[in-house]
Amino acid sequence: MTVKVLGISAGPRVKGNSDLLLLQALAGAESAGAHVEYIRLSDYKIAPCIECNLCHTTGWCEVQDDYQQLLAKMLDAGRLIFATPIFFMAVCAQAKTLIDRGQCLWARKYVLKKELITSERDRRAMVIAVGGSKSTKMFESLRSTMKSYFDSLQMHYVSNLFINKVNALGEIEKHPSALKEAFRLGKELTTADTLPPKKPIDIELTRHTSGGLT
Ligand SMILES: Cc1cc2nc3c(=O)[nH]c(=O)nc-3n(C[C@H](O)[C@H](O)[C@H](O)COP(=O)(O)O)c2cc1C
Repeated sequence: MTVKVLGISAGPRVKGNSDLLLLQALAGAESAGAHVEYIRLSDYKIAPCIECNLCHTTGWCEVQDDYQQLLAKMLDAGRLIFATPIFFMAVCAQAKTLIDRGQCLWARKYVLKKELITSERDRRAMVIAVGGSKSTKMFESLRSTMKSYFDSLQMHYVSNLFINKVNALGEIEKHPSALKEAFRLGKELTTADTLPPKKPIDIELTRHTSGGLT
């Protein structure tokens, strides 16, 4: 059966570094026969969670906007590639807004104790994140945020592609090894027939000097 791979580009910049890496990862998935869909989060109107807690009773989010449409896509896909720039040591605001609306998934699972997806589907997710600074500390917050989010989405968190010291629009194109790695991970996400790893596999392409990462 054809694997459906959904790529969500959370960053506000079109052809930003995380966006370009996501496109490579989707190209890798497509090369392995996946049906891919690319989404720019900024094309969707998604309001922040207002903690009304209605989801604790219904199991669904009662704030009506484009979230429902996007959630349907996320539930339909067998694979998710989530790309975000690092803003203030965390995912960008657009990404966080979407993630917070996932509270209805958390409520379904932990308050209502209902399964989100009835079949035993093998759903897997990967993260792409790009930061401008030379430190790699900024990736730490992502690990726990994305773990908790993918858990709510009933997806195995299988890999991270973290890249630092990339700032200018499209700068990542000067780093073919990063683009190649994104392609490879996207392909691997599609073809994986082994059990998902207990912890996500990290690919950190980090640069501490002016060179490297070519
Ligand atoms: C509001 C804002 C906050 C940022 N905060 C960080 C940060 O905490 N750490 C970091 O390494 N880079 C930070 N950056 C730099 C971006 O992560 C970097 O430019 C990255 O390449 C953006 O990804 P994009 O090209 O996909 O938009 C920040 C940029 C902006 C605009």
